[in-house]
Amino acid sequence: AVLNDLAVRAGLKYFGAALGEGAFQSDSTYASLLRDTAEFGQVVPENGMKWESTERTQGVFTYGSGDVSAKQAQQSGQVLRCHALVWHSQLPNWVSGGTWTVETLTAVMESHISNVMGHYKGQCYAWDVVNEAVGDDGNWRSTVFLDTFNGTGYLPVAFNLARAADPSAKLYYNDYNLEYNGDKTDRAVELVKLVQAAGAPIDGVGFQGHLLVAGTPSRSNLAAALQRFTALGVEVAFTELDIRHTSLPAPASAYATQGDDYANVVGACLDTPNCVGVTVWGVTDKYSWIPGTFEGQGDALLYDANFTRKAAWTSVSSVL
Ligand code: XIL
Repeated sequence: AVLNDLAVRAGLKYFGAALGEGAFQSDSTYASLLRDTAEFGQVVPENGMKWESTERTQGVFTYGSGDVSAKQAQQSGQVLRCHALVWHSQLPNWVSGGTWTVETLTAVMESHISNVMGHYKGQCYAWDVVNEAVGDDGNWRSTVFLDTFNGTGYLPVAFNLARAADPSAKLYYNDYNLEYNGDKTDRAVELVKLVQAAGAPIDGVGFQGHLLVAGTPSRSNLAAALQRFTALGVEVAFTELDIRHTSLPAPASAYATQGDDYANVVGACLDTPNCVGVTVWGVTDKYSWIPGTFEGQGDALLYDANFTRKAAWTSVSSVL
């Protein structure tokens, strides 16, 4: 069990994993592996800090699920990434379906951000302040936030509220499909610039890294995409890495390709000064969000469903 040790020796701050709250509490094999700090030096709650978990009812804050990750990080001395504050998904209907003005929605954001960040104050290395604000076509994603503000004005508001709530946390924009360096990546670059131009704080950009076997960009193309952001003065990280087979069962050769793809991602981070770490979105193929969301796809992680290391694990350990 060595991926975090290798990553730190290679100059990263951490190699980490998402903590699945259900599996962590029900499966001791899973929990032991997640607790192994030689393997995982960082954790992030898979669901426990999302809006629907922390403020399902307006003004009623619940931290039981998020605290599982925070306690685990504290007990083992793991870096804690915190996820996510302003996001259109897993957002309670009282927010997404509410009738708001800029003023009333700002008050809702202020209450949510100050309470949740306040609860975890001083514990989060980074917070995903805004998640997935751009659509795959490169247009701003239509959400209750964009629509109420009639544009992107909610972005600097969110980052300013976050800085005020916990000045010790790095404030991230986090999204998927930034890896392909297309229109969506262009728009995310614009996002960082517009937050900066508004005088609001932004410290990092998370590349989620939900990628496809045989569809993952090369190491140099991935590094080029990361470096568009570090050129703006923010750090970057891969925050939710998984690389899925698009059809199952897959031949052994596809598991080797998956290993090459993983090595490209980790290698691109190593090639990028200010790429601080890599987080996998799960530990084992036994528990992964992929099959439930992308029908017929999966086997996206580093350990198989029996907790055996896959070719991808070996490949990551070799590149580190
Ligand atoms: C996923 C979780 O893994 C699932 O358990 C949940 O049902 C849905 O959300 N982008 C994100 C993550 O930022 O929060 C998502 O996590 C995956 C996509």
